[in-house]
Amino acid sequence: MTSSQIFVMVTLASLLISSNALLTPHFYDKVCPQALPVIKSVVKEAILKEKRIGASLLRLHFHDCFVNGCDGSVLLDDTKNFTGEKTALPNINSIRGFSVIDEIKAAVDKACKRPVVSCADILAIAARDSVAILGGPQLFYNVLLGRRDARRASKSAANTNLPPPTFSFSQLISNFKSHGLDVKDLVALSGGHTIGFAKCNTFRNRIYNETNIDPSFAASLRKTCPRKGGDSNLSPLDATPTKVDTTYYRDLIYKKGLLHSDQQLFEGKGRESDKLVQLYSKSPLAFARDFKSSMIKMGNMKPLTGTQGEIRINCRRVR
Ligand code: HEM
Ligand SMILES: *[C@@H]1O[C@H](CO)[C@@H](O)[C@H](O)[C@H]1NC(C)=O
Ligand SMILES: *[C@@H]1O[C@H](CO)[C@@H](O)[C@H](O)[C@H]1NC(C)=O
Repeated sequence: MTSSQIFVMVTLASLLISSNALLTPHFYDKVCPQALPVIKSVVKEAILKEKRIGASLLRLHFHDCFVNGCDGSVLLDDTKNFTGEKTALPNINSIRGFSVIDEIKAAVDKACKRPVVSCADILAIAARDSVAILGGPQLFYNVLLGRRDARRASKSAANTNLPPPTFSFSQLISNFKSHGLDVKDLVALSGGHTIGFAKCNTFRNRIYNETNIDPSFAASLRKTCPRKGGDSNLSPLDATPTKVDTTYYRDLIYKKGLLHSDQQLFEGKGRESDKLVQLYSKSPLAFARDFKSSMIKMGNMKPLTGTQGEIRINCRRVR
């Protein structure tokens, strides 16, 4: 081989390793065929015990991917080397599901007889399974795999990269754009709010101060969310918080979005986002199609692959 042939090969190899070209639905087929069924069964058990946990697992994957890519960083506890993401503002007293991830990791490592499945992949698989369990088979997709785990996490990156519920439409658009996601991804992925709950302090200003809200909806929320106190009282993010369906979008059309950021997607002004909200509210099929493709797109954000990062043993700690 000539040195220029070697150069071409090395360049090609590094291109492959640095892109997400290595993510594939078949990553564990040979190394551990039991991995995906084991993960699904633990997720199923956990949802049987507590329906909300499916929502919490979906949100964990989102909060992982939006902070330096889908690399399991959200799961790391603080160490003397870094302050992790768990105490960042969007996460503190809010993000949950860590013990289910621990259970999955223990079960999958036992089934595979060694730690071959990354925590980042576990988050992607658990999110996919939660949505399919709570929404039905049309929401099932082949999740791309082969992510590796980060050795660091960053509280400040979590604070700057995760969108807060106070964001305006243009702030949401530019936040998603900074992650390589477009308007359609924003509207489809916000459909994650078809399941789960939010705390009073995330929607208090909306129900006391805003005008683009259904008055009787606001009045009923004020009962669980007083002006003062009750900060962590929960309200469902849509009218059917344990079902992945299109009620979230129908609610937006009736000005019944719970969060300020939710209602920003629909103003009835004929913008692209208004049209998408209308489409998804009427077509569960269109929602399922776009949600799945945007989840795959989100899951492809800056994964560590090849020899980058590591495969953790305990998802809360680097090896
Ligand atoms: C568009 C920007 C987004 C904002 C501003 C936002 C904000 C929030 C807030 C404030 C909560 C309530 C947290 C609490 O009170 O503890 C929440 C919950 C939730 N979010 Fe989002 N979110 C966004 C996008 C997403 C995306 C893209 C997904 C997933 C695809 C998602 C999935 C969830 C789920 C499932 C819950 C409920 C979690 C539970 O019940 O444990 N969110 N979000
Ligand atoms: C902190 O970083 C050093 C050097 O990289 C490493 O040897 C050590 O194990 C790390 N400590 C923890 C608690 O992660
Ligand atoms: C309503 O808006 C005012 C002015 O911005 C603010 O001071 C007040 O705290 C808000 N009320 C609630 C309940 O959030």
